[in-house]
Amino acid sequence: AVMVRGRVKRRRKWRKVVGLLKDLEESFETPLGRLRQMVDAVAVEMQAGLVSEGGSKLKMLLTFVDDLPNGRERGTYYALHLGGSYFRIIRVHLGGERSSLEVEDIERHSIPTSLLNSTSEVLFDFLASSLQKFIEKEGKESSSSQDVKRELAFTFSFPVKQTSLSSGVLIKWTKGFAISEMAGEDIAECLQGALDRRGLDIHVAALVNDTVGALSYGHYHDPDTIAAVVFGTGSNACYLERTDAIIKCQNPRTTSGSMVVNMEWGNFWSSRLPRTLYDIELDAESLNSNDMGFEKMIGGMYLGDIVRRVILRMSQESDIFGPISSILSTPFVLRTNSVSAMHEDDTPELHEVATILKHLGVPKVQLKVRKLVVKICDVVTRRAARLSAAGISGILKKVGRDGSGGGEGRRRSIGKQMMRRTVIAVEGGLYSNYKMFREYMDEALRDILGDDVARHVVIKAMEDGSSIGSALLLASSHSVRTISNI
Ligand code: GLC
Repeated sequence: AVMVRGRVKRRRKWRKVVGLLKDLEESFETPLGRLRQMVDAVAVEMQAGLVSEGGSKLKMLLTFVDDLPNGRERGTYYALHLGGSYFRIIRVHLGGERSSLEVEDIERHSIPTSLLNSTSEVLFDFLASSLQKFIEKEGKESSSSQDVKRELAFTFSFPVKQTSLSSGVLIKWTKGFAISEMAGEDIAECLQGALDRRGLDIHVAALVNDTVGALSYGHYHDPDTIAAVVFGTGSNACYLERTDAIIKCQNPRTTSGSMVVNMEWGNFWSSRLPRTLYDIELDAESLNSNDMGFEKMIGGMYLGDIVRRVILRMSQESDIFGPISSILSTPFVLRTNSVSAMHEDDTPELHEVATILKHLGVPKVQLKVRKLVVKICDVVTRRAARLSAAGISGILKKVGRDGSGGGEGRRRSIGKQMMRRTVIAVEGGLYSNYKMFREYMDEALRDILGDDVARHVVIKAMEDGSSIGSALLLASSHSVRTISNI
């Protein structure tokens, strides 16, 4: 009788878990109709953000980039890229045609977490000293003496209000950075100051958002590239817009008639977004609450934490995970790369899931519980990927490339026959390292756009594109300047 009672109790508990899972699936649902509404909302918000400063949660920042690299650039350029989790330093040499692009040196380092809430001096001195080492190494390796000043592009993956291609102030930190008193500071000047203090003869000649670097790189290799999206620690997109559509900019003065706009789409918001209890809690406990709502649903920094919150809640409401683990209660202990490892665990016993759960203080759970964890990863990542696809489709709609024949302020005659090949450059670990994310995103893009249109839309993944692209952009701005100086 005791055994039977035990079994009944266990079955009842499991039924409760099944109920929780059902609720979870429902609250994370992204049916096609809802995604379509989001596409419309993205296009509408883009328009509103272009009309007036503060007109939308989408900041639609001007970049002062009107000409994208085309392959004819020449010279040696540097880029220093401060991302969300990594920083990179590169040196590229350009010989005047695409095939001669040579990445002569590249270093990738993870950003020490102590920097995230240090001071401006500490951050920029750290970057300057890393650059100094990079250049000293070069002195040892190459015999060629450097007699011209080194030109550097600073790829800065945070929202900046640009005042020119080479200057701009930080609007606010995102992605876990919290260095106080830096909002409003000119970022290029800060770096230049730190380089000067170390006596380095380097000129910070461009300040570039990572998405804009990615677009430059994409466009360099394929002129049909009109937008770029970063799926990394954070998420953001930029695209090429006609200057006459950028109504808030009084004096655009571009020769090409277009300008790259940094959307800062991480801050997109719409009542159509499937916001759950977990999103609300995550936001409330974050360093930047009430900000970057979209990024918190799709950014690599956050997916792991959403999954952690779901597992924690389930372990509080049932005992299938054993005693509540204190590790599991620690924000951000579960990283998104672990989520992808669990999600893509193809061992029959789900070994990877077991190992990761063990690290989270949840040893020894039944196979069906491990399967439940995989399901949670699936639900959270699928939502992120589908929302991302809606974001991309929103851009396509805005520029009249979604096959609807419309597009705000565009010719209305773009029908199926006239669909042009459209390339979206994509970069970031979430996309390149997480197959299921990629697959769900591609699938949702096809669902939203329809096969006929989706066929013309190419998603091109790149590696280090945003760093290399920033150097290319700097090179192309130089060639423009040289020509106009003659
Ligand atoms: C964050 C930043 C944005 C950046 C993105 C991807 O959203 O605010 O500027 O492009 O992360 O790194």
